[in-house]
Amino acid sequence: MTSRSGSSPGPDEDRSPEIVPLISAAAIGVRVQALADEVAHRPAAGKDPLVLIGLLRGALPFVTDLSRALKDRGVDLAIDYVTASSYGGGTISPGKVMVKSSPAIALAGRDVLLVDDILDTGLTLEAVIAAFAAVTPARLATCVLLDKRARRLNGLRADFVGFPCPDLFVVGYGMDLDERFRELPFIGTLASS
Ligand code: IMP
Ligand code: MG
Repeated sequence: MTSRSGSSPGPDEDRSPEIVPLISAAAIGVRVQALADEVAHRPAAGKDPLVLIGLLRGALPFVTDLSRALKDRGVDLAIDYVTASSYGGGTISPGKVMVKSSPAIALAGRDVLLVDDILDTGLTLEAVIAAFAAVTPARLATCVLLDKRARRLNGLRADFVGFPCPDLFVVGYGMDLDERFRELPFIGTLASS
């Protein structure tokens, strides 16, 4: 068998030529730990466990890794998910956001952290914040792994941000293009974008 050391893809990379790696799985792991430190060291807002609300479906790996890192730091959690979507498919946002479900946990008086994969136009998070604010949590903060600030339409800023993101359509670590590439452990962009 011929050795291709030096030129073969690492375990972190995808062999499919259409994805150009941008953020490695290792870098994501390091940043998630640092985010967990930031969240764990905030002043307390109440005695009940912190409520993580993940936005399905892209935030799933991020919520999983962040919640485990928070647990390692002794932060008690309750975790739930809601569905909100602004993408019907493809890479163009129609700009209409539907919040399609409510959390099973009663959020009134709770310390709530909304977690999403990527903040793009900001319309999704704005709609979810508006829906949740009505039930008067003690604190409603936001945490996104990626911040694609160049495309923001509403000036929204997340309280916790993993990485700034260039104005490219990205996939991997939960993010998809027509439900593909969510399983990638790293974040990349389409070679053609
Ligand atoms: P926003 O409402 O435009 O901020 O979009 C937020 C949602 O759009 C995110 O939760 C993602 O599901 C999706 N999204 C935005 N940009 C990308 C991207 O580059 N790749 C994959 N999904 C994206
Ligand atoms: Mg999403």
